[in-house]
Amino acid sequence: MSTRRLRREATARLQQAGVASPERDADELLAHVLGVGLGRLPLVDEVGDDQGAAYDALVARRAAREPLQHLLGSAAFRHVELAVGPGVFVPRPETELLAGWGIERAREAGPGAVVVDLCTGSGAVARAIGDEVPGARVHAVELDPAAHSWAERNLAGTGVELRSGDMATAFEELAGSVDVITCNPPYVPLTAWESVAPEARDHDPHLALFSGDDGLDALRVLARRATVLLRPGGWVGAEHADVQGESAPAVFVATGRYEQVRDRRDLAGRPRFLTARLAR
Ligand SMILES: C[S@@+](CC[C@H](N)C(=O)[O-])C[C@H]1O[C@@H](n2cnc3c(N)ncnc32)[C@H](O)[C@@H]1O
Repeated sequence: MSTRRLRREATARLQQAGVASPERDADELLAHVLGVGLGRLPLVDEVGDDQGAAYDALVARRAAREPLQHLLGSAAFRHVELAVGPGVFVPRPETELLAGWGIERAREAGPGAVVVDLCTGSGAVARAIGDEVPGARVHAVELDPAAHSWAERNLAGTGVELRSGDMATAFEELAGSVDVITCNPPYVPLTAWESVAPEARDHDPHLALFSGDDGLDALRVLARRATVLLRPGGWVGAEHADVQGESAPAVFVATGRYEQVRDRRDLAGRPRFLTARLAR
């Protein structure tokens, strides 16, 4: 079977199914089946029957809107690869910005910086910070047992300390000593259920997505908990939905405990995460 034809047909099938990046996904799946990097794909002219059948099965699953990363079994995040699959939230490229901000703050804090990643999911943000700030002491917590198992796998041997538990009460012994908190909490309003893409709605755990009627319940818990964990002058950064560019920072302002509360945009100019500093 000609590779070019397979790619063309798969792209058309994925496009018809409403997949956002059909050509890219068709190529990623084919490279996965062939065991080659994306860059080498144009060098392969023909595909064997078994590989063709395996590709067809994966394209059918992607057309049914299974997340690409579940089919590949991994997701790239900054400089690391994370194992992902059913039971854990797939790390998104936009969260790399929050991780990058956390990395800068951890570097500023100097050797031995204490970093806590709340709602760690696959462990993506904690793992990236540990990877890029070798001297930092990174801690992470996850409530959902299935997601925690994925994080265990992704953080094994990295030096990141992982716990199972609720961010509302986690890390009591670190109270008043944390330099940087990162958190990508659930933030989708329950009322927005219909607007969530099938990949997320049907495959990301609901505990990872939804957070009360206005989507801000978890951020309210975070705003309170961070006042306990942070040292005076310590930083907290939290992702939110693009419609929460004012309401999410307002949650932190309302506590009266933070200074320099501001919202930050992604490369497309959309409000993406807030940052705040515990008043000294
Ligand atoms: C949007 S996902 C983010 C996962 C990961 N940090 C990332 O950016 O890919 C939110 C995660 O928070 C977890 N979670 C929700 N409520 C929590 C809580 N109260 N305490 C700890 N984790 C919680 C969910 O299970 C989910 O794994």
